[in-house]
Amino acid sequence: MKVLAIETSCDETSAAIVENGTKILSNVVASSVELHAKTGGVIPEIAAREQLKCMLPVLSEALQRANTNHAEIDTIAVTVGPGLIGSLLVGIETAKTLAYFWKKPIIPVNHLLAHIYANWLDDSGPTGPLNNWSVPEFPLLALVVSGGHTELVLLKNHGQIEWIGGTRDDAAGECFDKTARLLGLGYPGGPVIAAAASKYRPSETPSLSRLPRPMANEDNFDFSFSGLKTAVLREVQNLQKKEQLNHLAIGQLSFEIQEAISDVLVDKIIRAAKKYKVKSLLLAGGVSANSRLREKFGRQLITTEQKFHLFIPQPKLCTDNAAPIAACAFFNYHPVPWQEITVSPGLTINGEN
Ligand code: KG4
Ligand code: ZN
Repeated sequence: MKVLAIETSCDETSAAIVENGTKILSNVVASSVELHAKTGGVIPEIAAREQLKCMLPVLSEALQRANTNHAEIDTIAVTVGPGLIGSLLVGIETAKTLAYFWKKPIIPVNHLLAHIYANWLDDSGPTGPLNNWSVPEFPLLALVVSGGHTELVLLKNHGQIEWIGGTRDDAAGECFDKTARLLGLGYPGGPVIAAAASKYRPSETPSLSRLPRPMANEDNFDFSFSGLKTAVLREVQNLQKKEQLNHLAIGQLSFEIQEAISDVLVDKIIRAAKKYKVKSLLLAGGVSANSRLREKFGRQLITTEQKFHLFIPQPKLCTDNAAPIAACAFFNYHPVPWQEITVSPGLTINGEN
């Protein structure tokens, strides 16, 4: 079965064609991130206007690259939420129009759940010590770490989802984005903090105070990242007062931010995977593209007693793109009449509005 998927929940415009939920035939992504980098964050109005311009060219390129014409498409899938309302509507109205004129079934897809399905795509596969390619096995634990969400869920099967923890305030990606802004590093924060951290050499600068690991030792699976952001703000203000906020200090702070965020995530998630005795542990969402986080998960798994498979999509499939939308629709095949597809900007990972 060939699914044509459309994803426009934030600043990306993406269309993909995926066969049987695993094989990517094409996956085209256009981003307006350069426009948002100038303002330090996504301006919804600008994102939606760019998506209107890009949607049809992206769609046509996805069909061309997959060498597929519309008659060969079996189903249309589209992100309905969560996300920016104007952006979501660009994808939704396009998908409904295609479903109506091409007479295809259409499947509304939850963007957060779809991130997890990047792990079924055939150029992902398990990482770490157990390295034979396969699809994830149930029961599994999945961590979705994106710009607006940090959600930990247990999946007993496709469609059987139980939320077991999440952030009480800022998401992990939001913490990268906000602290990058405090450091004057631009947007999106994750990649720029990772780049600055990679240049940091511990011997070059006097140590700053260690950043907090919020809620790391609490006996639950919740997270909190706003205190970390405040601690970075205090460090930045101190350094500014002493006129020491130079590139060495920025490198060190970036390094510390990345360490603090990854420490909290790795510790708690490995603990949860052991508690729930899962067969697979899946990472998903933009923050899971972070090399240091991937490395720490891999290392922890070598030392941990319980051997579950760790799955992390390749970095370009972690951030927003349409291929996981198609995979999610294939494994959760519930078409609805196109008239019933509506935008759900506040959709939760459980499917609640
Ligand atoms: O999943 P995603 O592309 O979009 C949302 O659904 O939000 O995630 C975007 C988030 C941003 O906060 C961005 O800073 C973060 O993912 N991100 C990263 C990296 N690449 C993207 N965070 C850490 N390291 C990265 N390499
Ligand atoms: Zn996303």
